[in-house]
Amino acid sequence: MRGGFQFIAAVVSLCFPQAAPAEPAGASRVLGSGSCATSGCHGGAGPNRGAYHIWKRADPHFKASATLTNGQSKAMARKLGIASAAESASCTVCHAPMRNVEPALFAPSGKDQAQEDFSCANCHGGAEDWILSHTRPEYPRAALVKLGMRPLESAYQRANSCVACHQNLSDDLVKANHPPLIFELDGLLVEQPKHWREDKEFSHAKTWLVGQAVALRETAAQAAREPGDRRNAEIEAIKELLSASATGWDGGAGADLVRAADDFARRISDAPMTSAQARSALDRLMGNRKPFEIGAFGTVADEYRMWAVGYYAERVALAIDRLNQSLVLSGQKAVVAEEALDGLFKAAKPPKCFDADVAEHFVRKLDGLAKSNPGAE
Ligand code: HEC
Ligand code: HEC
Ligand code: HEC
Repeated sequence: MRGGFQFIAAVVSLCFPQAAPAEPAGASRVLGSGSCATSGCHGGAGPNRGAYHIWKRADPHFKASATLTNGQSKAMARKLGIASAAESASCTVCHAPMRNVEPALFAPSGKDQAQEDFSCANCHGGAEDWILSHTRPEYPRAALVKLGMRPLESAYQRANSCVACHQNLSDDLVKANHPPLIFELDGLLVEQPKHWREDKEFSHAKTWLVGQAVALRETAAQAAREPGDRRNAEIEAIKELLSASATGWDGGAGADLVRAADDFARRISDAPMTSAQARSALDRLMGNRKPFEIGAFGTVADEYRMWAVGYYAERVALAIDRLNQSLVLSGQKAVVAEEALDGLFKAAKPPKCFDADVAEHFVRKLDGLAKSNPGAE
């Protein structure tokens, strides 16, 4: 099965989050965050200097391993027959990824790494080979990347980094009641306390769209490993979302879906996205009623057809929120009011709870959005 996705090395590793999600890429050995945290570097004040403090004080990843000792995790561990969630690779791959780094991959100079569960390296790559050169402003970024710094500038690069832990759960984790994961890149990046300064060019709409294409790629890759009707329902829902947004997704028909979604994500990430395009996608998604019609998602097994509607509903609510925000943040008028959006989110019940009544209620909330327009006279 794996042979099918070996078209780019980065995707191969990212497509197998259960195996090794954010193992620092590149050739460089891993340093602990202590190496980044001195006051002249990222442990001080000012632009790019406060990263370590923000991380330690507020970043959800800093505390992700503590979650593994709470009651919810203990209950999950019991269901899975695991002695300790905090010690099991089936949890630490995402919640404490430093624990899964092979000892040989650590640089001998980092003293603190043994105690760390999640570190800068899990997103930025092992730093032994670039730590000295990356402080020289004239040093080309591409050269640092060759030394193992993971590039995170573009929406596509960020999506690849974050999706490894934020979309796919194996079937046994789903059965053990792990909270469902639904990858929406723009919201995650907004929510993660920023230890960096965003580029003026940053487009929330594009970030949303690239994230959905990458979510499709990962779900399709996971379906090849662990096929199932529930996963098909999720795939069909994301495909419908991309089609309905009319942003250039050709349906992936005929082609390998993993590759088609990856190509689309790269293409969107590389091209500019205007406010007019974001507005058009928003209008189309607000107007799309096809997923709620009788006979929709006809290729999904009967038992999971309403799940597909539910998956679509969750993602379209997130889409409308991000696209609306994107307009506001680029200085345009909001298209929908906050209150109406709250109502839509409340109506987007988890997919397993979706039935005809829930769907009808959701459609009423969708109908109400256009009328809520705060900018309309
Ligand atoms: C594929 C990556 C991944 C794996 C594997 C994983 N988790 Fe998680 N887990 C996450 C993410 C991401 C979240 C945050 C979800 C959110 O808030 O949307 C999370 C959230 C949780 C939460 C809820 C935390 C909260 O504050 O509400 C618990 C509890 C949890 N995980 C326990 C576990 C346990 C126990 C295991 C192993 C049996 C495990 N996780 C395996 C990625 C993972
Ligand atoms: C969960 C992922 C994640 C973790 C963990 C993380 N970062 Fe980041 N970091 C990012 C992202 C995303 C960016 C934005 C990247 C960009 O625009 O190039 C960023 C940007 C930065 C920047 C600015 C880079 C630039 O060129 O503007 C610095 C400095 C930085 N991080 C330091 C750290 C340090 C130090 C740690 C550990 C204490 C850390 N990061 C942990 C995701 C992460
Ligand atoms: C190595 C795995 C891993 C990677 C890579 C990762 N995360 Fe997470 N993330 C987690 C886990 C696990 C949690 C749950 C923390 C907890 O236990 O409460 C989480 C939680 C979060 C949360 C808070 C809960 C939520 O879902 O809203 C945000 C925001 C977030 N991550 C953003 C990001 C962003 C942005 C990136 C990429 C730059 C990223 N993460 C990369 C594992 C990861």
